Amino acid sequence: LFAGQVDFLKGVVAMDGLPPADRAEVCFAGRSNVGKSSLINALTNRKGLARASNTPGRTQEINYFTLGDSHFLVDLPGYGYAEAPVAVVEKWQRLLKAYLAGRQTLRRAFVLIDARHGVKPVDEEIMGLLDSAAVTFQAVLTKADKVKAKDMDRVLDQVRGRLATHPAAFPEIVLTSSEKGDGIATLRAIIAGIA
Ligand code: GTP
Ligand code: MG
Repeated sequence: LFAGQVDFLKGVVAMDGLPPADRAEVCFAGRSNVGKSSLINALTNRKGLARASNTPGRTQEINYFTLGDSHFLVDLPGYGYAEAPVAVVEKWQRLLKAYLAGRQTLRRAFVLIDARHGVKPVDEEIMGLLDSAAVTFQAVLTKADKVKAKDMDRVLDQVRGRLATHPAAFPEIVLTSSEKGDGIATLRAIIAGIA
């Protein structure tokens, strides 16, 4: 599936701008700067496809990518701190929540968690929203290359503990590094299996 064609489709700034709900879609949610856009680039093997940067708040629209003609991949704006004007941030946070709770064809939300930090209160808020909307979500730890193996178990325990409190959470956690490629093939296979 991922060897097939991947293309940028459009950036969406309001719910009425979403493309037709005519295929399975998965989205990448998480705190600003957690590595959502980088993960999409790693998954698709296309470096500049999704714009990534060190500035929190880089992605400000709901960016749609087509994966062949069977799936949409959706890169979301981050939640939490962002380097952008408050009014602008509030607008995209509202859109983000409306999208997560209201997109009929959203099959799974990948909730990205920085492997150095574990689950934060803002992550809990989004997970609660996904529970309420009955959207299955799966935790993906990012930047695994920045965490020593001996520290990873503690983070995994924390994340596992938090996930256990969320009815919409998938128990399996995916460990990734967009930098080094860890977990990327696994995540591709997971997405390919979502119809
Ligand atoms: P927003 O769009 O601002 O919400 O951020 P984002 O979640 O899309 O993060 P983005 O992909 O732009 O990455 C943020 C920063 O983290 C960039 O400087 C990336 O190079 C870095 N980064 C992303 N993934 C990894 C990773 O696996 N390992 C390391 N070491 N750095 C990473
Ligand atoms: Mg981004």
